[in-house]
Amino acid sequence: MNFLDRNEFNFAPAPQVLEALKNFDTQKLGFYTRIYDEGKKSIFSVFLSEEYGIDEKQIMLGYGGEDLLKEAVHYFLTLPDHNRLMLVPKFSWWYYKSIADEVDGQTVQYPLYEDGDTYRYDMDTLKKMLHELNPKILLLASPNNPTGNALTPNQIENLLQEAPKTTYIVIDEAYASYVNRDNSYIKRLIDEFPNLLIVRTLSKFYGLPGLRMGFGFTGNGLGKFNRFGNKYLGYNRISEELAIAALKATDYYRDIADKINEDRKNYEREIGVLSGFKVYKSQANFILIKYPIELKEPLQNALKEQDYKIKFMNEPDINTHLRITLGRPEQNRIVIDTIKKVAGK
Ligand SMILES: Cc1ncc(COP(=O)(O)O)c(C=O)c1O
Repeated sequence: MNFLDRNEFNFAPAPQVLEALKNFDTQKLGFYTRIYDEGKKSIFSVFLSEEYGIDEKQIMLGYGGEDLLKEAVHYFLTLPDHNRLMLVPKFSWWYYKSIADEVDGQTVQYPLYEDGDTYRYDMDTLKKMLHELNPKILLLASPNNPTGNALTPNQIENLLQEAPKTTYIVIDEAYASYVNRDNSYIKRLIDEFPNLLIVRTLSKFYGLPGLRMGFGFTGNGLGKFNRFGNKYLGYNRISEELAIAALKATDYYRDIADKINEDRKNYEREIGVLSGFKVYKSQANFILIKYPIELKEPLQNALKEQDYKIKFMNEPDINTHLRITLGRPEQNRIVIDTIKKVAGK
């Protein structure tokens, strides 16, 4: 089966990652990390600290981005003041609401709107909602899943300057490396906003969802939360070495991102012109497409016959849409041709 439904990685890992795995000293598995004696979390948090120019104390590690997001939502929504309100984008990863539900949190959606071939955050409405509702958490996702649109660092800064000082800001940047080559804005933002958490992962751009490694950056008002999320006895010794190897191989992964960009254009050129179809601009490793709903079953059947799985969206107001992970060129070709055939072209 070809899985193009969960924004995973259909390419080979970087050779440096394979090398790191081959060369891993298994004696290390007999011991917890000793780096804790130096007051540090992991060799990976130390590496990130140097890479991003951020104090190691302001770095968090998790079992994927999902772990850090869950820790943050659970922690902030159960603080003693009983404010359990979180704002999330209207079209976004279903998991945000699910983790808030786990602690009886309340989730309110803020709008995104369609502007030509892209979605945008409705910043004016969002600012108004921040003032009127005074939420405990504002969750931003950039790029957002499934709409694929991203915020610039300046847009984020402008928005955060207007947010209530008591609101914790969580930015899910799972797909950010596809957009931002210059990461210096992260330090700038966490220095300016003490209540800010930025979450990243090795699962998307760095293609290692099976590694389960995520990392986050915290503003200096989040020391207590950072301590809450810290693992006293350390992290997975193999994962931390593979994660470092992957980050050192950014050029390899950038080439793959460039390759999938070519196929993104093929989707726009070939599917965007079909009657009743619309291909949205996406800045991540997936693409959102509106399609004629009467083709749902024929499309599902045709893709199944080819052994392909893509995501048919079900959420309100975005339920005539498909989200397709960009895979290897030959996989993308099969999906494009299958859609064209079902659409009668
Ligand atoms: C928007 C978004 N955030 C975070 C994640 C978390 O990924 P992981 O837990 O593998 O880091 C995903 C995975 O699909 C995602 O789509």
